[in-house]
Order: sequence, then structure tokens, then C-alpha cells
Amino acid sequence: MSTPSARLLRRIERDGPLPFAEFMDEALYGEGGYYATPRPRIGPAGDYVTGASISPLFGASTARLLERLGERLGGDADLLEAGYGDGSHLEAVVAALAPGHRGRLLGWERVTRPLPAPVVDLPALEAVAASRVRGLVFSYELFDALPFHRFRRAGDGWEELRVEARDGGFAWRRAPLSRPELSPLVEPYAELAQDGQIVDLAPAWTSLYARLAAALDAGLLVTCDYGFERHRLLDPRIRRHGTLACYRRHRVHRNPFVDVGRQDITAHVDFSALIAEGERAGLGTLGLVSQAEWLGACGVFDGLDRAAPGTRLEAARLLDPAAMGTEIRVLVQAREVDAGGLFDLPLRAPRSAPAPARRGARALS
Ligand SMILES: C[S@@+](CC[C@H](N)C(=O)[O-])C[C@H]1O[C@@H](n2cnc3c(N)ncnc32)[C@H](O)[C@@H]1O
Repeated sequence: MSTPSARLLRRIERDGPLPFAEFMDEALYGEGGYYATPRPRIGPAGDYVTGASISPLFGASTARLLERLGERLGGDADLLEAGYGDGSHLEAVVAALAPGHRGRLLGWERVTRPLPAPVVDLPALEAVAASRVRGLVFSYELFDALPFHRFRRAGDGWEELRVEARDGGFAWRRAPLSRPELSPLVEPYAELAQDGQIVDLAPAWTSLYARLAAALDAGLLVTCDYGFERHRLLDPRIRRHGTLACYRRHRVHRNPFVDVGRQDITAHVDFSALIAEGERAGLGTLGLVSQAEWLGACGVFDGLDRAAPGTRLEAARLLDPAAMGTEIRVLVQAREVDAGGLFDLPLRAPRSAPAPARRGARALS
């Protein structure tokens, strides 16, 4: 079997330097790629942790939310999870739901993997079109796993960081944009990016979000991921070099050219782009909050005082303000549902961009 590295080197030899999105697509999803497996290395014994891989408390909170949504929607709520990974979250939801729950439980993955009964694996997202979801459309670290392009602000224009072959391995190469269609993707970032700043953007962020919004008839679209509002994502004091990050055995680094196919590759999501896409699709924005606030809003504290010490420790990790409790953000958008009293905590609105400093304002005042 050829490896992702060998295939990538052959492609570069044939076609020249590749856009990073194509490199990432092959490294993660090509044959032998990082995610092209029935058992992705998620969890404490793998390469990185996600909410559901730390504790079934996450899925139990989702189940509680489904029950509350069902009361408002007049029937047991459906759940569609996109990018379900190893299925841990769906498994925990199934275990926590009241027996006899009649809402549909659906999963959708780029790489089909085993799911617990009675969850139905959708062959395509659009398979829900005829009978759209009344309840919750959910994802966790789906958008940060979508192939992204790397752009570099150069004066008044943009360059693309592509991947070339060098000394039997891979290296960055600055080049013009690989396709003219990338220009509308990157242009909205021109005002915020400084000369030399790198901006990592996935073309599929908004198209996939629009497909998830279209699958929702009534209820919530909930997106948990690493990311920020646009002005924070591009803050040059912190993220001048972009947000590309690679994960292997719980170590994070910035070199996607080692361990190709054996490490995860991610970029932070532009939540402003998702918010705008959802609103274009007719959704209302309820909030953009931390994972800790989200779980608190869905009642994660209920019964914790009586839980075993191990469960309380898991809760502490899910809520950890120095790690995933604040680093994972949760965007909550809604369609056709009364969200009054749905949550135990108020959901904070996304932060708007600070007003630009007025040049010479001090001298004038
Ligand atoms: C970082 S993992 C997160 C898995 C899981 N949600 C969790 O919390 O453990 C990202 C998952 O998204 C899946 N994925 C990537 N692109 C996708 C797409 N376009 N549609 C559906 N799933 C996708 C990958 O196969 C992978 O399982």
C-alpha cells in the first residue's frame, strides 16, 4: 500500500507545489490517512482529547438538552451529530436518554464508523432533507478538521503558502493564490491582517455550516470547536503565524511535514463566518460561550454533589478554565424554537470587534 507521503511527493513532482488544503486532505483522509480508520486515536490513550472522550457527562448534558427541547417542540427531539468521530458522544447520549425516547438519533461522518444502536448512520447529510431535524444538530471539533489554505498578507495582496518537495520531505513555498476562487475567501480578512501575517482558512467552513443549517427544521444548531470571532482570530499580537496546530500523543506543535498520516492537523475556526452563514440561512444567534458555560447551561452540575469522585474529576477537566473549559467555544444558533428558560445559565453573545482607535483623538480632545 502506498503511504500518504509517497502519494503527496508523486503529486508534487507531477503538478508542482500543492495548496496546503490538498496536502491536509491526503494526510488526514486519503488511504492510510490519520482519520481513514475505524478507530481514530481520540481520548486519553490517543493523541488528543475531546469533551466526550473525557467523560460521558458531556453526552448526558446533551441528552438533558434534548429532553428540554422536546418539551418545547411538542414531541421527542431528534439529534443529528456531524463528524461523530469514534461515536463516544452518541454512545453517552443513548445511555443517558430516557428509555423509549422516540426522537430520531442520526450520525453523519466523512469516514463511516461503527455506531451504537439505535443511531442511524446517514449516507449523506442531504438524506435528512425530506424530514428535517426537529431538535438538535450538533458537532464537536468538526470544523477545525476541515482542510484549510494558508494565506500570507503581502503588502496590499495575498500569497499562498504551498507545499513543495525538498530533500525527500516537504517544505513551505510562497506562491501566488493557487485558484482565483480563493480570492473571495481571503479578501474579507484584508483589513485585519498585517503585512506578513498568516491566515488559515477552510473553504468548507461556511458551505458545511450552511448544509447543517439546512438540515434543521426547528431547534438548535450547536457547534463546539477551537476558534474565535474574526477580530480575535486575526489578533496579530497572538496569532501572527496563523493557527495551524498538529497533535500527536498529547503534544502540540506546528510542523505538519513530520509523521504525515500519523498526526492530527487543525486550524482555529472563524466563528464570525459561521454566525453570518447561519443568520443568512434564517437562524437566530443565541450565544457564543465557553465549553464550561455551555455545560453549565445544560445542567452539568445537576447531581454532581452526589457523584463518585472520579466523575467529579472528569467534570473538573471538562470545565477546566486553563484548558478545554475555555479553549473550546460553543456557538448556539436557533430556528423556530422558544429558548426562554431552556438554559440554566444565560448564553453570552459573541463579542463584537472593538471600535478602531481614532488617529489623533487624544490631541483633539
Ligand atoms: C477532531 S475529530 C472529532 C471527532 C468527534 N466529534 C469527537 O468529539 O471526538 C473530527 C472528525 O470529523 C470528521 N470529518 C471531517 N470532515 C468531515 C466532513 N466534511 N463531514 C463529516 N465528518 C467529517 C473526521 O473524520 C473526524 O472523525
